[in-house]
Amino acid sequence: MTLFDELEHIYQDALTRLAAVADSSALEAWYADALGRKGAVTLQTRAVGQLPKEERPAFGQRANEVKQALETAYAARAEAIKQEELLRDLEAGAVDVTLPGRPLAPGHLHLTTQSLRQLYSIFALMGFEVYEAPDVELEAYNFDLLNIPEYHPARDMWDTFWVKGLDAEARLLLRTHTSPGQMRVMRERCPEPIRVILPGKCYRYEQITARAEHQFYQLEGLAVGHTITLTDLIGTATQFARLFYGPDRQMRVRSSYFPFTEPSIEIDTTCTLCGGKGCRICKYTGWIEIAGAGMVHPVVLQNGGYDPAEWSGFAFGFGVERPSLTKYGVNDIRMFYGNDLRFLRQF
Ligand code: PHE
Repeated sequence: MTLFDELEHIYQDALTRLAAVADSSALEAWYADALGRKGAVTLQTRAVGQLPKEERPAFGQRANEVKQALETAYAARAEAIKQEELLRDLEAGAVDVTLPGRPLAPGHLHLTTQSLRQLYSIFALMGFEVYEAPDVELEAYNFDLLNIPEYHPARDMWDTFWVKGLDAEARLLLRTHTSPGQMRVMRERCPEPIRVILPGKCYRYEQITARAEHQFYQLEGLAVGHTITLTDLIGTATQFARLFYGPDRQMRVRSSYFPFTEPSIEIDTTCTLCGGKGCRICKYTGWIEIAGAGMVHPVVLQNGGYDPAEWSGFAFGFGVERPSLTKYGVNDIRMFYGNDLRFLRQF
């Protein structure tokens, strides 16, 4: 075989093997074998010295053509392999859109939020609208305008977190109850009749115990109109208790004292846990207190802009955590804001 024949043979053989190359690593190996520094074509080209002088240019030219042709074929194959590999990768990593999704853990509403929403819908049935008042309140709204002047001993009922303010005349505090909202609604709505509930967090500077937190929710209620009486208050409370706790629930009203209501009452229901027989939760009385309430004091009506000679109203305020405490037998109020998932997940 002449060097020319050998060159053609190497050329054809390289093309055949190139066609069989299936991936980029085999392709690189092929390139080294054929066109690399020690590749078959390169070595064959170097053999030109063995030829008689006059044949050398023709051989050299043919060797260059072969090199060129193989480079071109290599580039084409490289491109094709790149595409094939891309396709394979895409297929391997493809998303099957028909697979069912992985479930998310979205959490759920806090027990207090659930109670609040239940309360809203019960009072909505009786025509009460939800009104929100601020957590940071003026001293005047929390106390003075509610008939609790600075010297009044009843201020002791609410140990207060004071907020540092700039204005010594208008002292700020964290509301100790939702009652200041009464004043805000009255001043905003006067002289319209009012029927609102005021949910909100309250704050008291108190020792935290199993029965008392320094922050808790209250739900305030206020109705102002021309013919409102204590009976309306008791009727509303009874209706509430039946819808919230169940139809066979007993109610009891006790005389009490709040500076902003006259007369003032406290409302009890039969203990949720023992049903009235007496247990640790109800301190063996069979009753649990659910709300403070009363007829809006004339001074308060006046401060709200309503003439007590023409208007009357009732107000109530109850704790939102307390009812679920007894309803679910939770024995420690600190659980509500302790953020322990083992507790929260139960509701
Ligand atoms: N604000 C009172 C408290 O925090 C409850 C209350 C509200 C009493 C409305 C009477 C009328 O104890």
